[in-house]
Amino acid sequence: MRQQIVAGNWKMNNDLAQTETLITSLKNQTKTSNAEVMIAPTFTNLWQAYQTLKDDTIEVIAQNMHFAENGAYTGEISASMLKSVGVKTVILGHSERREYFGETDTILAKKVDTALAHHLRVIFCFGEVLADRKSGNHENIVEGQIKNALFHLEASAFKNIVLAYEPVWAIGTGETATPEQAQDMHAFIRKTLANKYGNDLANSVSILYGGSVKPNNAQEIFSKPDVDGGLIGGAALNANDFFAIVNAF
Ligand code: PGA
Repeated sequence: MRQQIVAGNWKMNNDLAQTETLITSLKNQTKTSNAEVMIAPTFTNLWQAYQTLKDDTIEVIAQNMHFAENGAYTGEISASMLKSVGVKTVILGHSERREYFGETDTILAKKVDTALAHHLRVIFCFGEVLADRKSGNHENIVEGQIKNALFHLEASAFKNIVLAYEPVWAIGTGETATPEQAQDMHAFIRKTLANKYGNDLANSVSILYGGSVKPNNAQEIFSKPDVDGGLIGGAALNANDFFAIVNAF
């Protein structure tokens, strides 16, 4: 059985006090599903979040990191810095990193290598823009993103990789992929993995869906056989909404 995961990506939201408030609300929620629950606060609040949730099942994860070990990279954060504040999982390749900060497949391949070398688990994000969906090129785009950043890895590396399909046109727009569109793409992703690494590996990797997942659509999306969870943006900023999504499994 694949691990079910619901991860909240807080993006550039919540200062220290707001982080404490939201975490307190999250701790008061009741979890009725088996999904692993993660939250990704901004870098400056990771340590506090980790301390507050040390004895809780909610895992504190990071939104990004640099590929270099250390050095002259002003404004960047390294894998060992993340580990030193208790982080065990990092999101890489989010579409906002690709779009606003110029992260390419080549850069992401390096980030993945560094994260894995530090025994960090990676939530690797990818997805097509609207024009690719409209022109019917979405599968090619996604296949390329996965191959370019991950297919140099040995099969054993995939035990520390979670995939997150996030169609860019559905992120923060209120427009979700239909459950069928999500399922079709997730099945395609699994087939792409199977072609390279075999069925056993493909069937063991969790594939999350992201893009305007809300309490009112989570259950239908999560009911699809190849959807193993969600990467949640906007709805993760409200404890009730987030746990409604967690409990949708
Ligand atoms: P959204 O964001 O849920 O606000 O669409 C998803 C994401 O960016 O991971």
